[in-house]
Amino acid sequence: MTHRMLWYIGGLLALLVVWPYSTGQGPLMDMRYGWSNVTCSTCKALVIALDISLQVESNMELVAEVAVKVCKTLHLEEEGVCQQVVELFKHEMITAWVMSVLRPSEVCGLLLGRDCGHWDIGSEWNITLPPVPKPPAHPPVPPQPGSPVSRVLFLTDIHWDHSYSPGSPATCKEPLCCRNHSTSSSHNPSGYWGEYSTCDLPLHTIESLLQHVSTNGPFERVYWTGDIPAHNVWEQTRSQQLGALTIITGLIKKYLGPVPVYPAVGNHESAPVNSFPPPSVYGNLSSGWLYHAMAQEWQGWLPHPALETLRTAGFYTTRIAPGLRLVSLNMNFCAIENFWLLINYTDPAGQLQWLVGVLQDAENNHEKVHIIGHIPPGLCLKSWSWNYYRIVSRYEGTIAAQFFGHTHLDEFEIFYDEETLSRPLSVAFIAPSVTTFINLNPGFRVYLVDGEYPESSHVVLDHETYILNLTEANKKPQEKPQWILLYSALRTYGMKSAYPSDWEDLVQRFLRDDQLFQTFWYLYHKGHVGEVCQESCKTGVICALRTGRSSDLRLCKDLDVYGKPAQKRKSLC
Ligand SMILES: *[C@@H]1O[C@H](CO)[C@@H](O)[C@H](O)[C@H]1NC(C)=O
Ligand SMILES: *[C@@H]1O[C@H](CO)[C@@H](O)[C@H](O)[C@H]1NC(C)=O
Ligand SMILES: *[C@@H]1O[C@H](CO)[C@@H](O)[C@H](O)[C@H]1NC(C)=O
Ligand SMILES: *[C@@H]1O[C@H](CO)[C@@H](O)[C@H](O)[C@H]1NC(C)=O
Ligand SMILES: *[C@@H]1O[C@H](CO)[C@@H](O)[C@H](O)[C@H]1NC(C)=O
Ligand SMILES: *[C@@H]1O[C@H](CO)[C@@H](O)[C@H](O)[C@H]1NC(C)=O
Ligand SMILES: [Zn+2]
Ligand SMILES: [Zn+2]
Repeated sequence: MTHRMLWYIGGLLALLVVWPYSTGQGPLMDMRYGWSNVTCSTCKALVIALDISLQVESNMELVAEVAVKVCKTLHLEEEGVCQQVVELFKHEMITAWVMSVLRPSEVCGLLLGRDCGHWDIGSEWNITLPPVPKPPAHPPVPPQPGSPVSRVLFLTDIHWDHSYSPGSPATCKEPLCCRNHSTSSSHNPSGYWGEYSTCDLPLHTIESLLQHVSTNGPFERVYWTGDIPAHNVWEQTRSQQLGALTIITGLIKKYLGPVPVYPAVGNHESAPVNSFPPPSVYGNLSSGWLYHAMAQEWQGWLPHPALETLRTAGFYTTRIAPGLRLVSLNMNFCAIENFWLLINYTDPAGQLQWLVGVLQDAENNHEKVHIIGHIPPGLCLKSWSWNYYRIVSRYEGTIAAQFFGHTHLDEFEIFYDEETLSRPLSVAFIAPSVTTFINLNPGFRVYLVDGEYPESSHVVLDHETYILNLTEANKKPQEKPQWILLYSALRTYGMKSAYPSDWEDLVQRFLRDDQLFQTFWYLYHKGHVGEVCQESCKTGVICALRTGRSSDLRLCKDLDVYGKPAQKRKSLC
């Protein structure tokens, strides 16, 4: 192969590898401009050559070498990071490639646009709904005054950085700063409890949070939706990820004791990040190392049948109260960043078909269901997302609530009826992160849910968000930091209840009342806002709040975003 060909092939690998971590500006865009100079047929020829050549081990090394060079030349990342990230990813990435049904037209469609081919392989697929007619939908009925209310603690995106080092550079050349080995790009030292920068959290801040919640309950239960390790993704190993799993699980047990905890798998749990092969991949490359460790660590919280499906595919269901069932989804099977899905995008691990079965059983047994997961459904691959939307619509009378994380921001996604896309029927709550990444206060969420009594609706009645004000806390590093209530939803937004129609109404009010929207924007960042949000930013944010399924322009058609869909947020989360 010629030098030039290798350059492009390496570039392709570098692009795929760095894709999930790029901020979607500068370097990645340069890279894409680079590709725009390649013709469609050249691209396809290169992909065929790559497919064949990668089946030879020595070529794998060669391609990896070039990928490192490309990464460095284009300054995709800092030099050390380029080296490590390619080293880390090459084996799994290339194996996924070789095993995949990936065809040149798909790859080149991705790189060069729709004229050259279609990226979304086999995007059209449909799950099968049982031939049971949908029960009529009833508007929610508020609980009787004095009915029990459950407080559910919600933790997500902890992102513990074991190398966080107070006083180290808070800005640096690597993708994660505030670390012992950060390459300084300023003399701005990181604070003791965390930093408003591209930094994750030291263990003592996480421990402080857990200590706070341990004395501010009681909580009925905890939902914990993943992303345990930090964002130093270019150097993480399986054993480090497992270490983080064990240590954080141990701390939660230590501080919350007998409170039941229901976890979900995040995209950062694996090494390399986002690498979640479907169960059809077995042996050393499978996710067995991770799911088995989770089942081991979490066995006190989950019953046997749940541990079984957790071990196989990272999702589970279990009854958590009389009349209430929990479903914990493995949202990595819906994520474009999970390169293993190249093998087959169609309902990976059969998860959605399984979900339909669980929901039908629940409907038959008059149970309500809470769904938890990491990545919000509106950010999923299109066909997965549309099928999920259909399921939520079919089982609206059974699904009492949906809870997600991953974006690190405080937001939500409204689900509408499929026929008219105008009647709000469910809301996916997206809680802000524990971590500061990027430029945020540390925080956590508490949901107030219709409590445990016969005929309870188990729906969300209100929620509260707590933060640590880093500005305050870092002034007095030796003192016990104060976790404070940032806001509670009904009071702050002047809502009567927290049903889907109330969130729809809130979004309508954002459009009319900019001051109210700016309050939302402030809380969206846990009280630490970088830039103001106006015009197209505001439209994009509101569009996202309406978007429970991805790539559906109709959901925002009156928002003047037609032709420029809400900026697709890159998954740094
Ligand atoms: C792509 O082509 C444009 C115009 O032909 C040129 O200015 C640019 O430098 C080229 N980019 C690369 C990466 O070759
Ligand atoms: C899936 O269902 C939609 C709507 O019912 C239909 O238009 C489409 O053809 C179906 N796709 C497949 C692959 O069956
Ligand atoms: C960072 O380096 C300093 C000095 O070498 C050391 O004392 C400290 O323990 C290190 N911190 C971490 C978190 O590794
Ligand atoms: C399994 O894969 C991991 C990561 O790729 C590697 O570190 C480990 O040595 C492999 N183990 C075996 C038995 O091949
Ligand atoms: C992909 O997976 C689905 C569901 O498991 C299966 O029906 C389909 O045949 C698979 N497609 C390919 C190309 O392997
Ligand atoms: C955090 O504290 C600073 C300094 O006292 C204050 O200016 C800021 O408004 C506080 N932020 C929040 C969200 O309370
Ligand atoms: Zn995430
Ligand atoms: Zn995260």
